[in-house]
Amino acid sequence: LEAGGSMSRFPLIPVQGVPLMNHIANNWDSISAFEPHPSDLLIATYPKAGTTWTQEIVDLLLNDGDQEVCHRAPIVVRMPFLEIFSPPPVPSGLDLLKEMPPPRVIKTHLAFQLVPQGFWKNKCKTIYVARNAKDNLVSYFHFDRMNLTQPEPGPWDSYIPKFMEGKLAWGSWYDHVKGYWKEREKNNILYLFYEDMKENPRREVERIMRYLGKSLPDDVISRIVELTSFKAMKENPMVNYTFIPMPVFDQSISPFMRKGEVGDWNNHFTQEQSRVFDEDYEKQMKGSNIPFRTNI
Ligand code: A3P
Repeated sequence: LEAGGSMSRFPLIPVQGVPLMNHIANNWDSISAFEPHPSDLLIATYPKAGTTWTQEIVDLLLNDGDQEVCHRAPIVVRMPFLEIFSPPPVPSGLDLLKEMPPPRVIKTHLAFQLVPQGFWKNKCKTIYVARNAKDNLVSYFHFDRMNLTQPEPGPWDSYIPKFMEGKLAWGSWYDHVKGYWKEREKNNILYLFYEDMKENPRREVERIMRYLGKSLPDDVISRIVELTSFKAMKENPMVNYTFIPMPVFDQSISPFMRKGEVGDWNNHFTQEQSRVFDEDYEKQMKGSNIPFRTNI
């Protein structure tokens, strides 16, 4: 993949109240008109919740643990990113989808209400991955530092309120996780947690396998768990985003495969920042019973 033209951090434009990068907002009509095939699978997340990890697990499961097949191309080519329109050197989702026959695995960060209706009409299988707010925020902060297409994160202490107010690309984390949670039963969405995947990766890989309607032998499952460990993925050039050239992703600022832990927020939030965040969290999440864990 090559960097196209000069680098710019894209401004955000609201689409139905959700701030999206301008190249997405400017192409909104064609994105929302996308018609998936009933056999297509959607992987939906708020940015930095464990998308890439889940994508690689799914690709390995669908290919019976065949490592070579899963090395066929960078993850952004294997699985179109629905709403992305180049300029960033991630290929445009809709262009890739035009070339690729179903069944496809499609990535999105869109909030539930912005996902093209065809996915629900066609009853497409959907995997949603959620990560606790504080770790998700920390991961997004470091990503915004190194991804030079995303808006400037600014200093850490001013980033926290931006997250709390839903002013980052793809909008409010709170609305995002609640939106899919509310719809999970009606739309047969498999709702996963990053913390569960860290705690017991094998259990979660098996859960995904069953959802996909597959049954693989124990040794293949073990191999998939190994190939999708943080360490293995950090070294795998097809998933570690080193295929995105400088200066678009400047991994010398912060690597894409940064830390891969639960509870790294403890190393970032001061006690006071944590207190303010928690107090607001209680308000924003009031009445929802999503079992998030900030430590395991
Ligand atoms: P950190 O920044 O906390 O390290 P996404 O793929 O949605 O952009 O999410 C990226 C986050 O998931 C990063 O979190 C990254 O390190 C983490 N991650 C990626 N692969 C992982 C794996 N195999 N195990 C644990 N965490 C992983």
